[in-house]
Amino acid sequence: MVNPFKFGVVVKGHDFCDRENEINEIISDIKSGVSITLISPRRYGKTSLILNIFDRLNYLKTVYIDLMGITTIQDFLDVYVRAFFEYLGGVKKITASWKKIFPNLEDLQINFGPFGASFKVSPSIKNIEEVIALPEKIGGQVVVALDEFQEITNIKEIDLLALFRKKAQLFENTTFIFSGSRRHVMYEIFSNLEKPFYRFSKIYNLGSLNKEEAVGFVKHKFESTNIKIDKKLVERLYEICMGHPYYMQYISHILWNISSNNEKCYEENLEEAVNLVLLSERPMFEALWDSLTSNQKMVLKSISYGISPYDLDISAGSVKAALDKLKKLDVVEKINRRYNVVDPFFSMWLKNL
Ligand SMILES: Nc1ncnc2c1ncn2[C@@H]1O[C@H](COP(=O)(O)OP(=O)(O)O)[C@@H](O)[C@H]1O
Ligand SMILES: [Mg+2]
Repeated sequence: MVNPFKFGVVVKGHDFCDRENEINEIISDIKSGVSITLISPRRYGKTSLILNIFDRLNYLKTVYIDLMGITTIQDFLDVYVRAFFEYLGGVKKITASWKKIFPNLEDLQINFGPFGASFKVSPSIKNIEEVIALPEKIGGQVVVALDEFQEITNIKEIDLLALFRKKAQLFENTTFIFSGSRRHVMYEIFSNLEKPFYRFSKIYNLGSLNKEEAVGFVKHKFESTNIKIDKKLVERLYEICMGHPYYMQYISHILWNISSNNEKCYEENLEEAVNLVLLSERPMFEALWDSLTSNQKMVLKSISYGISPYDLDISAGSVKAALDKLKKLDVVEKINRRYNVVDPFFSMWLKNL
């Protein structure tokens, strides 16, 4: 029997635990032409959510663009053009006819290398505007997802955000999903009154999985592979992971391996799975810990214990500086006026120090 829990890859279909409320809300916004900004820490399921939404919107034209790793305007033009060419039936097919489809795009070069095709578009303002406007050229209502959108701030050659906004606000048939993991960078782009994307889209904070949906999902997967598991144990698993989708799948995956020779899953199996996950994440947690200053360490530790860092024996100014840095690193976040450690397993590891 194959392990039914998947982690570290985009999950779709039966591997995706439906986020019914989130999906319905986002789909209804998109249908009414409202662009969305999707924000959550890494591994909360943004990419998976976008692609599952796209599956449901299969009567529209949907284009997914991953901006992870771009550093120059040339990189941006390359991934953007590539996504549209692939949408239109593959690079080979389009190579012959792109001039007819995009008559205003000048000096496009397509190179076929060992890693597939790459595109070179000379980065004149006119060309950049043409590329940004590609979704308006293919006809009909188009939804474009720009994943890891904060990466656009790596580009220093031109003010791409201002140019993008200037073009995109005139679009008639295109709706965007901007998605990003760096919370403070995304907020800086989308909710700073002085920035071009202010009020361009509706901000949607993607949270943890709904308890009932997640518990049902995990229980069903165990039982459909002939392993019994009590609802209470799955609820305990949910609480340990705090509904974090990646950890739910990861722990469930290990738990399933541990119990696959038995008919039933026991509490001590869950404990063992949690310890194995903690052990495997340890090098990453240690590296992060080692990179912090002693004030940052103290502040972080107090947050993991649920104690206000302002009760520590450090000046309020130093606590604030440490908190700002930890927020910038996406290690802590402030929710309802309280700071939390973003990663539930890092929090658990901190408490064991
Ligand atoms: N709705 C979901 N149902 C089940 N597992 C999920 C869900 N969303 C995310 N995951 C789990 O989390 C992992 C990371 O998801 P991903 O979509 O790559 O997140 P992100 O794009 O936010 O970094 C997936 O490999 C999967 O194990
Ligand atoms: Mg992603």
